[in-house]
Amino acid sequence: MRETHTAEHRPTSATATAAAAAAAAAASIATEIVLPGIVKPDGLEVRHVPTPAPGPGEVLLAMEATGVSFAEQQMRRGKYYDQPPFPFVPGYDLVGRVATTGPGVDPALAGRRFAALTKTGGWASHVVVEAADLVEVPDSVTSADAETLVVNGITAWQMLHRTAGVEAGDTVVVLGANGGVGSALVQLARIAGVRVIGTASRRHHDKLRELGVTPVDYRDPDLHGRLRGLAPGGVRAVFDHVGGEGVVDSFRLLAPGGTLVSYGTASTRDTPGSSKAPVLKLFARLALWNALPNSRHAHFFNIWAGRRRADAFRERLRADLGQVFALLADGRLRPQVAARVPLSRAADAMRLAESGTVAGKVVLVPDGEVRESEVRDGARTPTT
Ligand SMILES: NC(=O)c1ccc[n+]([C@@H]2O[C@H](COP(=O)([O-])OP(=O)(O)OC[C@H]3O[C@@H](n4cnc5c(N)ncnc54)[C@H](OP(=O)(O)O)[C@@H]3O)[C@@H](O)[C@H]2O)c1
Repeated sequence: MRETHTAEHRPTSATATAAAAAAAAAASIATEIVLPGIVKPDGLEVRHVPTPAPGPGEVLLAMEATGVSFAEQQMRRGKYYDQPPFPFVPGYDLVGRVATTGPGVDPALAGRRFAALTKTGGWASHVVVEAADLVEVPDSVTSADAETLVVNGITAWQMLHRTAGVEAGDTVVVLGANGGVGSALVQLARIAGVRVIGTASRRHHDKLRELGVTPVDYRDPDLHGRLRGLAPGGVRAVFDHVGGEGVVDSFRLLAPGGTLVSYGTASTRDTPGSSKAPVLKLFARLALWNALPNSRHAHFFNIWAGRRRADAFRERLRADLGQVFALLADGRLRPQVAARVPLSRAADAMRLAESGTVAGKVVLVPDGEVRESEVRDGARTPTT
């Protein structure tokens, strides 16, 4: 991982280094992780820049936790549907404390802790966000625990309760039930009294059973037959982030009146080529299934849908994340932190997240907050 300084802060000699350090202490230097192009995790760059100032309606958050989502794994391959042009700072969400407030923002927000959904930009020690996008984190919840359920919790809650509209007594299938979104989905479904059949690698099955899920190995050559066997009359909903040809089988698992909630194309993460083609093909397929008179529904869930009506979008997001955080504070929802890794070691965090050897979300925290031994232990976290 390469470390750079902006022109204003590039040290040219020992004296300049000391001066830069002093300036850093006074003017405050922020650290951010830059994705410069399609790179391996080692190609991520650590950049030191002047701490940004919040503009009107904005606050500056001092990051306490941000995380590695599947989205960043796709972005570093240039495979996320609508990622910005390189270079950019990734980071889908974060939890942070308000350091300063911009004009027009209540100064009393300073010092309070909030979560924010950013899509990009979260992998930084200081992040400017719109005050209207903040969602308060309950005091009893740690920042790392809350972080595991920002994008994952909103996605899971909205797919379950807004898109599929599940009810107690329903049966659903969750693909990738041990993943970030998947584990939130299965827990929220169980809390709602829903029976869950979940696919995952065999090593995660015991953990899923503990959550009350019936696990099935997604590498089983007769996956569809096994899922069918567990719910011969069909299921109320299938949550599918895998995409590709398997989505046909997912649709076939539905009972009459059932809903396929498709929300990703994980199967094409490592396939070279366009980031848009697999998604567009999926949209076309879902639209066709919806148009046919088969009494089943097929939707693509997009967490950003409806963003143009900003007030309604924010209200929904605040209400739904608020429900998730309340369940977290009550101890009914279990967060899964796979490891806490210092921000400047984002390359290690990404390797760990992509290794498939850990359960839960790899969380980035401010530099200096975790001991080296803890980072190494995190990297060695055994899987079940
Ligand atoms: N549409 C939206 O608004 C939205 C929002 C958030 C997330 N997402 C999507 O949600 C998905 C999950 O994100 P995440 O951050 O939760 O990822 P994650 O924590 O990395 O989890 C990915 C999961 O997928 C499983 N998996 C991988 N290949 C699979 C396959 N072929 N069949 C079944 N399961 C498979 C993995 O299982 P193993 O560990 O056993 O390999 C793991 O459980 C991603 O595709 C992401 O793009 C979409």
